[in-house]
Amino acid sequence: MRLLVLGGTSFLGRHVATAALDRGHDVATFTRGVSGSPPAGARALHGDRDDPAALPAALDGWPPDLVVDTSCQTRAAARNAAAALGGVRGYAFVSSLNAYATWPPGPIGPEDDEPTWLTDDDEYGPVKASAEREIGAALPGRFLTARAGLIAGPDDRVDRLGWWLRRIARGGRVVVPAEGWDQPIALVDVRDLAGWLVEMAEQGVPGAVNATGPTGMATYGGLLELCREVTGGDAEWVPVPEADLLAADVEPWLHLPLWLPAETARTAWDVDTTRARELGLPSRPLAQTVTDTWAWLRGVEELPPPPHGLPRPGLPPEREAALLASR
Ligand SMILES: NC(=O)c1ccc[n+]([C@@H]2O[C@H](COP(=O)([O-])OP(=O)(O)OC[C@H]3O[C@@H](n4cnc5c(N)ncnc54)[C@H](OP(=O)(O)O)[C@@H]3O)[C@@H](O)[C@H]2O)c1
Repeated sequence: MRLLVLGGTSFLGRHVATAALDRGHDVATFTRGVSGSPPAGARALHGDRDDPAALPAALDGWPPDLVVDTSCQTRAAARNAAAALGGVRGYAFVSSLNAYATWPPGPIGPEDDEPTWLTDDDEYGPVKASAEREIGAALPGRFLTARAGLIAGPDDRVDRLGWWLRRIARGGRVVVPAEGWDQPIALVDVRDLAGWLVEMAEQGVPGAVNATGPTGMATYGGLLELCREVTGGDAEWVPVPEADLLAADVEPWLHLPLWLPAETARTAWDVDTTRARELGLPSRPLAQTVTDTWAWLRGVEELPPPPHGLPRPGLPPEREAALLASR
């Protein structure tokens, strides 16, 4: 079938295009053409999805059967997709757990029990929630929204796991949070999510899905230990109490990626993924994700900037030095 990837030239979208090609689809990607090219075998359609004329023009002569939408970040993008693509057989949309008005801190129960944002501001969560409603209304019974948790794997420009891998590979004394070492966490490998999104679009499965790994598939400390194993570094953990990290302006999630203060972490990582499991979202062993991300990173000369203006994660060296000096 003709499968259109909205996005398709970086991280998740590129893996979606690859998975769709592997499954024998005739694949096109739709991007502005500034972030790179699609995988070989996919046709590259160009335009800005914020422009209402762009999608109809690009799809003239190539009407898709299926859509996987990885690139929706604005209300205009959602409106334009709803107007142009309401006739497809299956539409899998990439949303976020941030679509939930109560997350963080959560916890997140079954999809239909949890409220999503209804505000009309242009923040990330409200925009994803409104996009779900807008495009969903154009595709009754054929629209799936994957509310993704943390996505990791090769080609990840957001660089949260990547920063930990590089820092731990460098070795020496490494600041880690003293609390929350055993905190259960969950993430989804980009390749697992990509292949599954293609299958969901093929089957026209409707509804909302919390699209992440099973809670407890790993712990925070376990992930860091894995990073040390995979990189082979001599990193020595220097546990710093949460209160000291916060007093030193260490920003949770950003400066120590994936770290949340214990009180928030307890509920934020508690996400019901029963439906994802029922619908067959795979969850490969975390060791594979970490190993493959490290293999990819070692071949990267210069990491491109994170997408849509996200800041680069990681503990600024001077802040790390100050924290280590007193220990
Ligand atoms: N990373 C995470 O942990 C996480 C967690 C939850 C949800 N998510 C969601 O998962 C998705 C990740 O998608 P992704 O990895 O494929 O990358 P992405 O950075 O969101 O999307 C980038 C792709 O969209 C294209 N694009 C950007 N602006 C465009 C525009 N105005 N018109 C047309 N194309 C445009 C880019 O190509 P050009 O630049 O060439 O246009 C590129 O191919 C996002 O929707 C994100 O919100 C991510």
